[in-house]
Amino acid sequence: MHARTVLVVDDESSVRSSLEMALGKAGYLTRTAASGNDALNILKKQSVDIVLSDLKMPDGDGMDLLRAIKNDHPNIEVILLTGYGTIEKAVDAMKDGAYDFITKPFKKAVILGAVERAVERQLLTQENKYLKAQLGSMKSYDTIIGNSQALRDVLAMVERVAPLTSTVLISGASGTGKELIARAIHRHSPRALKRFVPINCAAIPENLIESELFGHMKGSFTGAMRDKEGLFKVATGGTLFLDEISSMPLNLQVKLLRAIEQKEILPVGSTNPEVVDVRIVGATNKELFAAVEAGTFREDLYYRLNVIGITIPPLKERIDDIPDLVAHFVEVYNVQLNKQIHKIDEHTLRVLMNQPWKGNVRELENAVERAMILCDGNDLSIEQFPYLYSTNEAPRGSGNDLKSSVRNFEKGTILNALKAAGNDKHEAANSLGLSLSSLYRKITELGIEFKEE
Ligand SMILES: Nc1ncnc2c1ncn2[C@@H]1O[C@H](COP(=O)(O)OP(=O)(O)OP(=O)(O)O)[C@@H](O)[C@H]1O
Ligand SMILES: [Mg+2]
Repeated sequence: MHARTVLVVDDESSVRSSLEMALGKAGYLTRTAASGNDALNILKKQSVDIVLSDLKMPDGDGMDLLRAIKNDHPNIEVILLTGYGTIEKAVDAMKDGAYDFITKPFKKAVILGAVERAVERQLLTQENKYLKAQLGSMKSYDTIIGNSQALRDVLAMVERVAPLTSTVLISGASGTGKELIARAIHRHSPRALKRFVPINCAAIPENLIESELFGHMKGSFTGAMRDKEGLFKVATGGTLFLDEISSMPLNLQVKLLRAIEQKEILPVGSTNPEVVDVRIVGATNKELFAAVEAGTFREDLYYRLNVIGITIPPLKERIDDIPDLVAHFVEVYNVQLNKQIHKIDEHTLRVLMNQPWKGNVRELENAVERAMILCDGNDLSIEQFPYLYSTNEAPRGSGNDLKSSVRNFEKGTILNALKAAGNDKHEAANSLGLSLSSLYRKITELGIEFKEE
């Protein structure tokens, strides 16, 4: 673990130097500032973990500094030093987010103890955040819905390639589920316990992509205040997901090629290549080979990436997935929006299956979410999709008949309600807005099997 940096802020130089020494001995890196303004300037330029600040200083008090820090750098923990006369204020400071306060004169051991606890808390908070983010992404990314042949082919490929280390290139229009599939490859690979690190090559300014990917050494360019690990390093043992890879600048394509072929990277400003162990999954919503022909994408890199290619077809080529997807999103947003929607009529489903869905699954998901927000009752109907192109035609190319789609949808919601109610039929009927007898009728009608309690 890297050493923590403590910034000591006090107008008395003797206090600064004694704290600096004590903290240094205990293994912390230290910075000092004689005033709140000095401190803020340092924080602008350097990364600091803990601030230890006097509460009373000539240029304004430690409270202002505390608020400024909590506003701009919420992860920094602040410990205040206070004379007896200002304890009350220090207590207020705790309410404003200070981690602790220590009265002067202080013993060094007390300070060191407080700093240590603050560091511990910081680590815990960071870890929680990371775990929460993981959980959050698991929720939305775990489930791949759909039973169309097209999607089943994609999933069969995922299973085949997941155990390998070969580079994979996922192609598909926007919103087709490229990232979802990339995550599935990672999850089913031996690398699943290490990180999945996504980077969107189109969202990062060209001149930063290199340092973002490969890292940089302190001083290698203006603004490089300290060494920085690149994402290749962060993803060690795991998977690096290069999204919108067609946006990668040509000069970096050479470096990426070398990283893939030689499993070595060169941080910006360094002369020592570093060995990396990362699996690369790329994604593109453009026909990447067209970019090769246009001269904006290197041919050698194209072949290197495309060792295994997976193409996700647009949603309109797998409309059989639509009823399942709608049911899935209804389930997800019932929880998120605290709704109890459990029905959709045949006509609405038919209209949904007939849309062009240029934005693919993402657009469908958004449409369902919006409709559910608009919906006051328990039934989704065409009124909640006023902007959709309406039709009475049977969906083209669908092998499914609509009746069975609607039945499947109903079956799904009833099963979910039963599950949520721990198989208590009274409660399930309640949450579905049905009478107990209608629920029984539906259960027999739809052939739902479940264990009686
Ligand atoms: N088969 C599926 N089952 C469930 N959800 C899906 C499916 N396909 C896509 N989604 C959902 O649709 C949304 C878009 O998916 P994703 O971000 O993976 O698409 P993308 O191809 O990377 O899109 P873009 O090109 O816009 O980045 C996500 O919320 C994802 O969870
Ligand atoms: Mg994406």
